[in-house]
Amino acid sequence: MRHPGLRQWVSEIAQLTKPERIVWCDGSEAEYERLCEELVAKGTFIRLNPALRPNSFLARSHPSDVARMEERTFICSRSKDDAGPTNNWIDPREMRGTLDRLFDNCMRGRSLYVVPFSMGPLGSHIAQIGVEITDSPYVAASMRVMTRMGRAVIDWLGDGGKFVPCIHSVGAPLEPGQQDVAWPCNEQEKWIVHFPETREIWSYGSGYGGNALLGKKCLALRIASVMARDEGWLAEHMLILGLESPAGEKSYIAAAFPSACGKTNLAMLIPPQALRGWKVTTIGEDIAWIKPGADGRFYAINPEYGLFGVAPGTSEQTNPNAMRMLRENVIFTNVAMTPEGDVWWEGMTDEPPARLIDWQGKPWTPQEGKKGRLAAHPNARFTVAATQCPSMDPQWEDPQGVPIAAFLFGGRRSSTVPLVVEAPTWEEGVYMAATLGSETTAAITGKVGVVRRDPMAMLAFCGYNMGDYFGHWLKMGRAVKHPPRIFRVNWFRRDAQGKFIWPGFGENMRVLQWVVERCQGRARGIETPLGTMPRFEDLNWQGLEKMSPAQYAELTRIDAAAWQDELKSHDELFEKLGSHLPAALEARRGRMHEKLAA
Ligand code: GTP
Ligand code: SPV
Ligand code: MN
Repeated sequence: MRHPGLRQWVSEIAQLTKPERIVWCDGSEAEYERLCEELVAKGTFIRLNPALRPNSFLARSHPSDVARMEERTFICSRSKDDAGPTNNWIDPREMRGTLDRLFDNCMRGRSLYVVPFSMGPLGSHIAQIGVEITDSPYVAASMRVMTRMGRAVIDWLGDGGKFVPCIHSVGAPLEPGQQDVAWPCNEQEKWIVHFPETREIWSYGSGYGGNALLGKKCLALRIASVMARDEGWLAEHMLILGLESPAGEKSYIAAAFPSACGKTNLAMLIPPQALRGWKVTTIGEDIAWIKPGADGRFYAINPEYGLFGVAPGTSEQTNPNAMRMLRENVIFTNVAMTPEGDVWWEGMTDEPPARLIDWQGKPWTPQEGKKGRLAAHPNARFTVAATQCPSMDPQWEDPQGVPIAAFLFGGRRSSTVPLVVEAPTWEEGVYMAATLGSETTAAITGKVGVVRRDPMAMLAFCGYNMGDYFGHWLKMGRAVKHPPRIFRVNWFRRDAQGKFIWPGFGENMRVLQWVVERCQGRARGIETPLGTMPRFEDLNWQGLEKMSPAQYAELTRIDAAAWQDELKSHDELFEKLGSHLPAALEARRGRMHEKLAA
């Protein structure tokens, strides 16, 4: 290790946090195996039955530590105005004082792991390096799966390369002789803190997902969105998929959906039998970094190396590629376990097994399931290397990225929002994306099923003022000669009985076909106040005869009264942004009111 700055920083953090030992991670297979063995010995991991789920583990988290905590996430820019009204803000000087208190001695009795990682292919001009210091071996092992981690990154940094410092502690020091628990965390205090100006991340008290795997939401979205603003690119909560037509033409689409709203499923879609001439490949399923290319198009990379995906709802029917991907070498967190030592979650099979151990380690039977007790936590997740995903695109590690033809924005909306709408212009598309709404899910702590504005699916991930972020999007549309077309989609509309009208999953291919054919200037539609929508006859219905024109009409209906309420909610978001709201979006809002009133 020839990087004095890195060495100095590690030693300063160690002096503050007082770990028992320091472990520099090299990213090797042997090291991963050692970490897993250690986690088994500590009781954090249960080794699953090697005959059924080879080289795979189950972790059960503490019930207070099961998802991202948006109310504990802070953007500590120097000025409050820079964080804006949609982020929690604390003065950075005050925050540094709090962190000094929290991190003082916080790793006592634990190992400090130094985890060097690259977001994006090492050496790509779009990639960024981070180094996470953590006292959680679960986090160190997960980071090896989720990122390009280890010695190659240290070598790449040389003696002075730049990296984003990420400091993480579960906030549970051990007194001499004190017995550790299976999932150490801090029940009293959790903090996920970002300093956008100095590009630093500090996380305390949680060991779960985006709170603790700091390359993902903290670096690749919150800090990267600030870098992107300053440097003229985009860091987005988007999947990237490749779509090959029966004629062999290849297009790439990036799509933003809020947490647990279908990115992983869409990125790995297998077209229905009748549309098998089409082929979907995966570049990424959660995050996209997008830069203008010399040819006037946007090019996108997936900065991650693994998937941290929602388990419940994943099945042979909904996502067969995921089921194949999860056969071995997986870390499962908060799923249920079968008596044979395999995993189960709600939606995996129609009938649950007769007996299970639930995500909290308690016996569970289908009778209790009928009473509403879940076997798996609704935000139970799998951690798995992207190389195990059967649909990965041959170009997924291309350091140049892939050219993006269209952006999709979608949310969970039981009513109001039609199946698919195309924005006539980039500006109108930015309005559409900025006013995206979605019902909340178990991916965040708090109430589930409440509609909220989630602009670009980035509400929790934009590291600066949301109004300025809208301005940045408008600017980026002018930065390339061929900006992607923008569409809004909604797979989640329900009928009067509360059933989803749209079959979703593989059948979403029908909407993707319309989207690429619109981009090629072939598919047709009609103008509506919301934008261009396909008529029934404009979509490919081969093999889906059960969708009647009447059902389709319900799926695409624009309810004037519901849209008045919808616009009110857009107005509220825009009012909140005050003087940071770009004038072009304010004007577009006025025109929406006029169009929908007409
Ligand atoms: P994060 O990883 O949290 O960012 O979320 P994600 O967007 O990748 O979520 P994911 O794809 O894992 O979403 C999973 C949930 O969405 C499960 O409950 C799925 O059953 C549901 N889902 C995904 N696609 C569809 C669809 O086309 N229709 C319906 N009805 N549900 C879907
Ligand atoms: C999300 O919540 O959008 C996720 C999961 O992708 S986590 O990494 O925990 O943020
Ligand atoms: Mn996500």
